[in-house]
Amino acid sequence: MSNFVPEHLERLLDETSVVPTVNQIELHPYFQQSELQSMHAENGIVTQAWSPIGGITSYGGGERRTLDDPTLKEIAGRHGKSAAQVMLRWHLQEGHSAIPKSTKPARIAENFGIFDFELDSEQIAAIDALDTGVRGGPDPDSITLENYGMEIPKA
Ligand SMILES: NC(=O)c1ccc[n+]([C@@H]2O[C@H](COP(=O)([O-])OP(=O)(O)OC[C@H]3O[C@@H](n4cnc5c(N)ncnc54)[C@H](OP(=O)(O)O)[C@@H]3O)[C@@H](O)[C@H]2O)c1
Repeated sequence: MSNFVPEHLERLLDETSVVPTVNQIELHPYFQQSELQSMHAENGIVTQAWSPIGGITSYGGGERRTLDDPTLKEIAGRHGKSAAQVMLRWHLQEGHSAIPKSTKPARIAENFGIFDFELDSEQIAAIDALDTGVRGGPDPDSITLENYGMEIPKA
């Protein structure tokens, strides 16, 4: 499933016998959803991060981009890595599945280059502290058939 918030997950668990395998949610250093992540952990659900390097903070000329974040850049500099690699390493160490997207082969390769360094606990804590609690994308509760519905073309 995707973009379930705690209330959706609670309802699913209460009213059915289904425990989902994965919940794909907006998750990057600026929006971490820790309550939801705890619910996933309690129920054995994989937390999968969309916009894992904060792409959603860049679209439409975002004012505060994760890729420009001074803390992430400083940590990256210490490891000889990029801010994107530091964010992906953070996801790995936090136990998330992450699905970064790039149209550029060099960046796709760069985004795989996260298995030869490790963030220490201070660096993990510094990244955890970047959470703003503010979504980059739409609130899942605001998505209705009226405002996001699409007609399925007839064959
Ligand atoms: N379930 C949902 O509701 C939902 C919502 C949004 C997205 N998603 C999924 O999540 C995936 C990833 O999310 P996303 O595309 O929003 O964000 P993202 O993967 O965090 O960031 C993608 C952006 O970062 C750039 N980028 C990638 N690697 C980079 C690097 N190493 N250095 C600098 N810039 C880099 C990309 O540009 P270039 O392409 O120019 O490299 C692109 O602008 C998408 O493929 C999408 O399928 C799911």
